Amino acid sequence: MKGLILSGGRGTRLRPLTYTRAKQLVPVANKPVLFYGIEALAAAGIRDIGIVVGDTRPEIQAAVGDGSAWGVAVTYIEQDAPRGLAHAVLISEPFLQREPFVMYLGDNLLARGIAPFVDEFLKTAPAAQILLARVPNPERFGVAELDGDTVVRLVEKPREPRSDLALVGVYLFGPGIFDAVKRIRPSFRDELEITDAIQALIDRGETVRPHVVDGWWKDTGRLADLLEANRLILATRGRCVEGDIDEESRIEGDVVVARGARIRQSVVRGPAIIGAGTRIEQAYVGPYTAMMNDVLVRGSEIEHSIVLEGAEIADLANRIVDSLIGRNVRISRQPAKPSAYRFMLGDNSEVGMRW
Ligand code: TTP
Repeated sequence: MKGLILSGGRGTRLRPLTYTRAKQLVPVANKPVLFYGIEALAAAGIRDIGIVVGDTRPEIQAAVGDGSAWGVAVTYIEQDAPRGLAHAVLISEPFLQREPFVMYLGDNLLARGIAPFVDEFLKTAPAAQILLARVPNPERFGVAELDGDTVVRLVEKPREPRSDLALVGVYLFGPGIFDAVKRIRPSFRDELEITDAIQALIDRGETVRPHVVDGWWKDTGRLADLLEANRLILATRGRCVEGDIDEESRIEGDVVVARGARIRQSVVRGPAIIGAGTRIEQAYVGPYTAMMNDVLVRGSEIEHSIVLEGAEIADLANRIVDSLIGRNVRISRQPAKPSAYRFMLGDNSEVGMRW
C-alpha cells in the first residue's frame, strides 16, 4: 500500500497567507498541518509516500525532505496547475503503479489517524473506500448516499442533501481508479473531480465502501477551521515549561513553553504553546493560542489565535482574539498624531475593528 498526499492547490481561502506560504505548512499547535498527515500515514504502516506539489514545491520539499524523519520515503510529484483531486491521481499513476493507495488531502487533520480505515480496506478489498463524517451542514460538502454498507451516489454540495455524511479528505483506492479518472471530464469549475471518478466506479458496478470516522476531523483550508484544529490539538499537548520565566509571571494549566522562550511580568493561561526565542513581556496570552518562534508580545493581550514566526505585537489597548497573524507582521500602538489607524496590508487581508 502506498500513500499519496495532495499538497498543491490554490489556497484561496487562506489568502493573503497563501501568497507567500503553502497552506499545508501553516502550523497547528506549532507543527505544520502536513506533518500530521505524514505521521498518520506512517502510523498506518505506509512507507512509500508521493507528495503532489505545485508552485510551493521548494518550500514543501525544504520542510519534508526525503521523509526519513518519519521513517518513510517521499517522492515529489509535480502538478503543473491545480486541475483537481482526480487530476492529481491521474499524474501520479507512474509513482503508484497498480498498487492500492491511500489519498490524503494535505490540509486535513484526523483525531484518531487512519490505521483502522486502512486495515478495513485491506481486509475487504473494494474498488474504493471513502471516509465519511456526520456534519450539521452537508450542503457545504461532497455528500454520500448509502444503501447498507455500499455507497450508491455521491453529490457535490447538494442543495437538498439526502444524508448528513460528508466526504472527509482521505480515500482508499484500488487500481480501478486510474481508468475512472481517465474517463471523466472536467467539471463546471474546470477541475477533474474525485467525486466524479468515484461515481464512475459506482456506475460501472464496482464496490465503493463507506467508513464513518469516529473522533473529529478538520479541513484546515479556512481560518475558523484552522483555529478549531489548533484548539483541538492544543487541548491534548499537556504541560511542559522549559523556557525562562521570571518570578512575576504565572503559567497556568497546560502550557508548552519551549527552551529559549522568555516570559516577563506576564500571565500565560493554557492550553497554549510558546515557541523558542519568543518573548512575552507585561502581557496576557490566553487559552488556545499557538505562538511560533521569535515572536514578541509586549504590553498586549491575545487569545485563541495563531501567531507565526517573527511577528511583533506591542502596546495594544484591546485584546486580540480569533486571529491568524503572519510572519514578521507588526501590530503596535503609535503615539504619533493624528491618532488614527495606520495600515500596510497585503491584498485580501482582513482586519476586524472593535469600533
Ligand atoms: P482544496 O482545499 O479543495 O483546494 P485549494 O487548495 O485550491 O484551496 P482553496 O479552495 O482555498 O482555493 O484542496 C484540498 C487539498 O488538495 C489541498 O491540500 C490542496 C490539494 N490539491 C492539490 O494538490 N491539487 C489540486 O489540483 C487541488 C484542487 C488540490
